[in-house]
Amino acid sequence: RKIQIINGPNLNLLGVREPGIYGKNSFESYLPTLKALFPDVQIDYFQSNVEGELIDKMQQVGFDYAGIVLNAGAYTHTSIALLDCIRSLRCPTVEVHISNVHQREEYRHHSMISAGCLGVICGFGLQSYELAIRGILAHQSDKA
Ligand code: DQA
Repeated sequence: RKIQIINGPNLNLLGVREPGIYGKNSFESYLPTLKALFPDVQIDYFQSNVEGELIDKMQQVGFDYAGIVLNAGAYTHTSIALLDCIRSLRCPTVEVHISNVHQREEYRHHSMISAGCLGVICGFGLQSYELAIRGILAHQSDKA
């Protein structure tokens, strides 16, 4: 089983960027901890600041992998292209956010991509990614 994690714009700066909101850890430093929780799953990681590169990666894995965990960063709130992509794939996408976007600015309250996603997880810090993976695996075993 393979799951793809995709981080969008500015998430390469986790640990450095607004640590009061996003925490002090980089994603790279969290990834081994996350992988250790799911020894039977191949977890691949990709980050880009470029919208089209996120779409290219999703199209590459979306017909083969068990699911995609997507933190689209600010593209969450703007991107019809990402929504269309999510809806084009065979595998489910789970939308994640590190922060609780609903406690923040009004413009973060609406997601353009949620309607295409299996589910949405936000506000649990980096643990949001773990919960998203659990959601994909549970969904898979429901179907089996
Ligand atoms: C974010 C929330 C978005 O509103 C913001 O633009 C981000 C990060 C989060 O993980 O909390 O870049 O997706």
